[in-house]
Amino acid sequence: MAEVKKVTLNTIVSLCKRRGFVFQSSEIYGGINSCWDMGPLGAELKRNLKDWWWFNMVKLRPEIEGLDSAILMSSRIWEASGHVECFQDPLVECLSCHRRFRVDDLANDKCPVCGNTELSEPRFFNLMFKTFIGPVENNENVIYLRPETAQGIYVNYQNVMVTMRQKIPFGIAQIGKAFRNEISPGNFIFRSREFEQMEMQYFIRPENADKWFEYWREQRWNWYKSIGIDENKLHWHKHSEDELAHYAKIAFDIEFDFPFGQKELEGIHNRGDYDLSRHIEFSGKNLEYTDRITNEKFIPYIIETSAGVDRPMLAVICDAYFEEPEIANPDKIRTVLKMHPRLSPIKVGVFPLVKKEGMPEIAKEIAQDLRKEFMVFYDEKDSIGRRYRRQDEAGTPFCVTVDGQTLKDRTVTIRERDTMVQVRVKIEEISGMISKYIESWIRDKGI
Ligand code: GAP
Repeated sequence: MAEVKKVTLNTIVSLCKRRGFVFQSSEIYGGINSCWDMGPLGAELKRNLKDWWWFNMVKLRPEIEGLDSAILMSSRIWEASGHVECFQDPLVECLSCHRRFRVDDLANDKCPVCGNTELSEPRFFNLMFKTFIGPVENNENVIYLRPETAQGIYVNYQNVMVTMRQKIPFGIAQIGKAFRNEISPGNFIFRSREFEQMEMQYFIRPENADKWFEYWREQRWNWYKSIGIDENKLHWHKHSEDELAHYAKIAFDIEFDFPFGQKELEGIHNRGDYDLSRHIEFSGKNLEYTDRITNEKFIPYIIETSAGVDRPMLAVICDAYFEEPEIANPDKIRTVLKMHPRLSPIKVGVFPLVKKEGMPEIAKEIAQDLRKEFMVFYDEKDSIGRRYRRQDEAGTPFCVTVDGQTLKDRTVTIRERDTMVQVRVKIEEISGMISKYIESWIRDKGI
């Protein structure tokens, strides 16, 4: 029987490149290691993750509104938020190879590259990207690329509340790009300088903060289960006093067992009234909330759920990655991404068994018909076995094959990715059959 290797990050990186999930940014110019381009399958997987988050966070909840605020905002916002003053990491330089690292990336006070123990004194480095708005490059025109999407929510909280006639408790959710000039980006898409966040800010009465904090911790944990991630690989990490961000009263991270260790996917924070109080102070605007019944005025507390998109995407791929001996030929290994079908970038592969006797024409017709409902990939190149393997590696849950029998009775086979079981159905039953499979997958796994 063929030997199954341990999954390393390199295995995942090479699958992502081979199957078109992730490409190195600026690759033909030598690449930059802190930015990544999503290929066709990566773009689709990310979109499915974001849609599922939005569906649960905004569409199913009358008390949460969506927002899409600008990336460029007044630099006063970042002074008020504390990011200009506090959003910094301690940086040290190796005095031998001159590479720079975050202090918490050092093992035993040694340079992780050359092992030298002579290091510079730590100095603080602000992680925000700074540029100028308009043609004049002076202090008045300094502007930052947002390092979190959250501030766009806080400065719009009254606009959203008033226009949507919301009252406390209510939330605002947004998905968008964030930028951080990380000192040591790495571990593929885990830590990059340009990434996406899915953040939700829940505005509450201060005395209810503990209750809502616990509520959102549970909701967010369950969301990771709902994308099919093995719960045994998820962990809580409570921030100690010295880990807490400058805005947080209490914070818990949801972490995942990546091939490079247990690392953060998402943070749930009680931000108290820090952000709104600071915006009141810096903007001079009254952002207090008035209770419509009692007329009581107060500054709401905020419970934040802050997830990346890229990290959950990497977690989904790592969790779904299996190498297993083929059932028919145990000397061979098949690589398969057993991801939740709701996330799979391609839902159905459609193939003619051979490129003749009218099979491609029928298969193309079926593919075009299924495209109204599912993301479909049509493939007629190579042997049928190789085509199945390519779709296994892409995480495609179903493959439809047009063969000789199709020409006689208009039936096709549907092959299921995880069990490799094939069933024969009439062409007009394909779509219903696939939907039924997805429903039973969700029902059987309880997600
Ligand atoms: N608004 C709060 C906030 O931004 P954070 O813990 O700094 O909190 C939230 O970031 C999430 O954003 C992280 O849990 C992670 O998923 C993602 N994230 C942060 N920095 C990242 C980076 N450099 N690359 C990829 N994702 C990142």
